[in-house]
Amino acid sequence: MDNRPIGVFDSGLGGLTAVRELRRMMPSEDIIYFGDTSRVPYGSRSRETILKYARQDTRFLRGFDLKAILIACGTVSTTSLDTLKAENDIPMLGVVEPTCRRAVAMTKNKRVGLIATAASVRSGAYERTIRAFDPTIEVISRACPLFVPLVENGRFRPGDVVIETVAREYLGSLRGTGIDTLILGCTHYPLLMEVIGGVMGPDVTLINAGEESAWEMKRALRASDALADPGRAGEAAFYASDRVEDFEKLAGMFLQEDLRRSVNQIDIETY
Ligand code: DGL
Repeated sequence: MDNRPIGVFDSGLGGLTAVRELRRMMPSEDIIYFGDTSRVPYGSRSRETILKYARQDTRFLRGFDLKAILIACGTVSTTSLDTLKAENDIPMLGVVEPTCRRAVAMTKNKRVGLIATAASVRSGAYERTIRAFDPTIEVISRACPLFVPLVENGRFRPGDVVIETVAREYLGSLRGTGIDTLILGCTHYPLLMEVIGGVMGPDVTLINAGEESAWEMKRALRASDALADPGRAGEAAFYASDRVEDFEKLAGMFLQEDLRRSVNQIDIETY
């Protein structure tokens, strides 16, 4: 048993989709979340810049006595996971492997779509991981660079003409490719489930990176006998690198629960 908190970080608010699932699956766990809201989006930046940011995010979280870190960011997971793992002596989990494992289990026709940030698609990490599970699966990828800034600005609801137009533009070319499974390879995208599902239609199964990575964390903690005491109520603490008012305004939508604690602002450049 281990009652120390789990650290979670993302470039912004998207990782809260993983926090929501962690809290649902493991209500006894304490969570410390950092969203790098002053530097979001990461997905349009170079691998070097993303790694630099991810190292600072990790250093900030490591100021707490954590039992594990969940990199709840597709972009950091696809570009920097191996380096961060090698540099840190606590378990660090990313979103790619659990998400791909689920997609491989779900596809029937072995045609899987991937949508993610430009950096994630460029890395080829999702394709490599799927092929390692099953080399006969074909992966068709599309970068959707406007999705993260739109979601961070609250433009994710069905009927919102801006997000609906952008979604049709990005996803139009995926329709007609015959995919039966679509990986939402960025943790911001679960908020777009309805919009994306509306464009892709009911025959395409959507895979949620936030949810799959939370399952993976639960499996890993259980395997190392590091789950928290089931009798306790877990707490969550939130940190952001930009205005906390903006974080607080949107966080409830990602978490699907009231943010009962205030958010603390930190200067991530000092880490
Ligand atoms: N939630 C991040 C991801 O999963 C968003 C990346 C970004 O900031 O562009 O990729």
